[in-house]
Amino acid sequence: MNELSADVERVLIGSDELSEIAKRLGAEIDADYSYIDGVKDKLVLLGVLKGSVVFMGDLMKNITVPAEIDFMKVSSYGASTTHGKSVNIILDLYRKDLPNTDILIVEDIIDSGRTLSYLADYLLLKGARSVKAVTLLDKPDRREIDFQPQYVGKVIPDEFVIGYGLDYAEKYRTLPYVGILKREVYEKQL
Ligand code: IMP
Ligand code: MG
Repeated sequence: MNELSADVERVLIGSDELSEIAKRLGAEIDADYSYIDGVKDKLVLLGVLKGSVVFMGDLMKNITVPAEIDFMKVSSYGASTTHGKSVNIILDLYRKDLPNTDILIVEDIIDSGRTLSYLADYLLLKGARSVKAVTLLDKPDRREIDFQPQYVGKVIPDEFVIGYGLDYAEKYRTLPYVGILKREVYEKQL
């Protein structure tokens, strides 16, 4: 057992199930965007840094319609395990082709809904032709803003999860599974 996995209460989604999820979502996305030709119509998979990188890597391999990738970085102020009121753009998206671009935001987890709802509004305001979202995980019990991503990998209970890109204080992103973090790890920080 390595140092990181010692802080894991239990594995919630193992690597086989994570692969299955990426496969299923890739097929759903392929079917919906089958009109994309990659020349006139563009699909951009827009990863939200940093939590989505591992999921993005697996998902993109399962999408066969032509797609470009891009990234934005946002931060929400507040404590590490809860979220404040405002979303801040740390790394913006600069593209001239937004009017003929369909954006699919790729997110690790939706919690209060603030990040995805803010990003979707922002990208539409910037002129994107359409904006949808895919999230690996959904914690519906925590929603404060009524936003529902079009594609959801797995609905999970209200627990703090780490691994497969997701962090607690920048740690645990490298774990190959999604696990529930032991409460004592973040409670001793509060
Ligand atoms: P929202 O804006 O409240 O929906 O929060 C979304 C962001 O909060 C995600 O992109 C994550 O970075 C972070 N987050 C929410 N819940 C968790 C969790 O259980 N583990 C790790 N990060 C989380
Ligand atoms: Mg995130």
